[in-house]
Amino acid sequence: MSITSLLRSAAIATCLLTTLAGVRVAQAADATLYQQFGERAGLVALMDDFMQRLLADPRMNPFFKDVDQAHVKAQLVDQICEVAGGPCRLDGPDMKSVHNGVDITRADFNALVEVLQQAMDARGIPFSAQNQLLGKLAPMHRDIVNVP
Ligand code: HEM
Repeated sequence: MSITSLLRSAAIATCLLTTLAGVRVAQAADATLYQQFGERAGLVALMDDFMQRLLADPRMNPFFKDVDQAHVKAQLVDQICEVAGGPCRLDGPDMKSVHNGVDITRADFNALVEVLQQAMDARGIPFSAQNQLLGKLAPMHRDIVNVP
């Protein structure tokens, strides 16, 4: 094999590898938010850990210690699945009615988001996926925060 044809083969191989790598990157970028959270199983595991962390956090424990934790977790799985573009629908009262009987300040809301971020970090959810989800949840503060 001449040097020229060897170089040509090497160039073709490099092109092919670059293209394949490009396809892989494109596929990763196209993964839906739901997929990046590990679909339903990933969300169930995330909400299990999130609830443990809420109960362990002295700011959040008073809110969650006496609620039906299994029910709240199941509802959150459906809600986040829906918000993230997955095949679920939250079947329950709207956010305003759910949180009506609980006094919630902006600081409480921020504390809950902080705990959620810790749970997402612990599961290795990509930072961009975390931000996308938080961007979709953040506007809900208007219905949830009910104490100035
Ligand atoms: C974006 C933020 C939040 C979302 C998406 C969210 C979502 C939910 C969902 C889906 C439920 C279950 C509703 C049902 O029973 O059908 C729930 C219940 C509850 N949430 Fe939130 N929530 C948020 C913020 C907060 C905050 C900041 C607090 C208090 C610090 C809070 C306290 C509670 C409590 C105590 C319940 C149980 C209510 C009950 O069973 O009586 N939530 N939430």
